[in-house]
Amino acid sequence: MNEKQRLENQQINQKSSADVKSDANDNLGRLKNISSDELISKYFQATYEPPNMRKAKKRLKKDVDIHYDFEIPLEMKEIGKGKKFLIRTYGCQMNEHDTEVMAGILTQMGYTSTEDTNDADIILLNTCAIRENAENKVFGELGHLKPLKLENPDLILGVCGCMSQEESVVNRILKKHPFVDLIFGTHNIHRLPQLINEALFGKEMVVDVWSKEGDIIENLPKARKGKIKAWVNIMYGCDKFCTYCIVPYTRGKERSRMPEDIIQEVRHLAAQGYKEITLLGQNVNAYGKDLEFDYGLGNLMEEISKIDIPRVRFTTSHPRDFDDRLIEVLAKGGNLLDHIHLPVQSGSSDILRVMARRYTRESYLELVRKIREAMPNATLTTDIIVGFPNETDEQFEETMTLVEEVGFESAYTFIYSPREGTPSARWEDNTPMEVKKERLQRLNALVNKQSAEAMTHYQDKIVKVLVEGESKKDPDVLSGYTERNKLVNFKGPKSVIGEIVEVKITNTKTWTLDGEMVESAVEVR
Ligand code: 5AD
Ligand code: SF4
Repeated sequence: MNEKQRLENQQINQKSSADVKSDANDNLGRLKNISSDELISKYFQATYEPPNMRKAKKRLKKDVDIHYDFEIPLEMKEIGKGKKFLIRTYGCQMNEHDTEVMAGILTQMGYTSTEDTNDADIILLNTCAIRENAENKVFGELGHLKPLKLENPDLILGVCGCMSQEESVVNRILKKHPFVDLIFGTHNIHRLPQLINEALFGKEMVVDVWSKEGDIIENLPKARKGKIKAWVNIMYGCDKFCTYCIVPYTRGKERSRMPEDIIQEVRHLAAQGYKEITLLGQNVNAYGKDLEFDYGLGNLMEEISKIDIPRVRFTTSHPRDFDDRLIEVLAKGGNLLDHIHLPVQSGSSDILRVMARRYTRESYLELVRKIREAMPNATLTTDIIVGFPNETDEQFEETMTLVEEVGFESAYTFIYSPREGTPSARWEDNTPMEVKKERLQRLNALVNKQSAEAMTHYQDKIVKVLVEGESKKDPDVLSGYTERNKLVNFKGPKSVIGEIVEVKITNTKTWTLDGEMVESAVEVR
């Protein structure tokens, strides 16, 4: 941003809200040739089909179509020449990877990427709907971007990702944020060229959200974020319908990619020199269940273990579908890493039942026992929700004892957030927020203690670190992850970035390790 732009921006930010509102009307009028009020009422009569929870919940048995013929239409290949795009990503790895796909498509249309909103001709917000605070962040960002859009009517401002699949969100944007040019959902990313074309040349807000689950589109271009680690989608959607979760509605039904397409992608990444891949899905253990032949995650991992890529991870697992075959394959080791993220959500069988998790405290512990028997050194991490509607003190204590019993080395912990359209959002909840916050604090203290304790075992040990780059805090320090996903900071030459090196741990902290490189780069399988 140059000084002139900065000053202009400052002036915009200093305007009163009344000014901004009247500017909004002026600018939208100029932009669309009608007033913002007319614009809003027009969209409510529009013929687009809003996301529909009831429809999304109906899982049809129809085969998923797989398309191998994605192409940028000829007339749109040059459309972005000399123009820039910026995509803000919220939420999970699935979204991060979708962003890579959208960036790939935009790059093929001639756009280049920028980090500066003032420089961008297209800004897309790739949103997350999992908890209310994720949504609030996006609405906050829309507020920040409004002055920019009003000053620069040619800017294309789009909202995509999981929030776009929610009816209430689409309505709120139509009503309160009419300066948005484009809303599209998770099933139609491949239509980005056409959508941008419509937004550029049409007069109205483009809304393209499909409540029906999408097909599988292969051969989409991807502008991957790095050259060391890569994500590989193995399946889309989720059929579990846990009672608190919005994902089965926003991401559609479970659809597995064909094994040969996945294997080909992994081979290609290996040939390009990637050192680590993470197989992605909302519930990767359900991989293959929808295929017409008998093939599961265990089979897929076995195939992938034969590919010459040093590290293979997968996320995220559902305990219900974690079968013996998968344990057997993982136990063989090799490039399959023994870090298992196994979301438990609660330690109380009663809460698990109302969450519709389809396992009990006991069966979860039995699964952990089996995993440990096959992989004695496996690291287990998890996700936990506290304050599910009417969770009692005793039920919360069961979560605490389960965390101790399993010995999770880290956990993502959340306060329950009601999501409109999910069953549990309709349930009365008598637990005060203060109590929920206290529970979260106690849980976090326990998780931190266990993490710090697990770290102390690394003192003076030698670990293999995939070096990702300079540490965020100190450019003289390199950082990377061990096989068990521990972040290590150490001094070493920049030439080892992208390599796997051996590091001796000299100091342990709660979440990170410090060390010294013991030898120059070694390739370790
Ligand atoms: N409230 C709080 N946490 C949630 N998660 C999913 N839905 C909700 C919700 N409504 C958490 C779960 C899941 C993780 C990705 O997010 O723990 O595993
Ligand atoms: Fe949501 Fe995961 Fe349950 Fe699917 S398995 S509904 S993504 S919490």
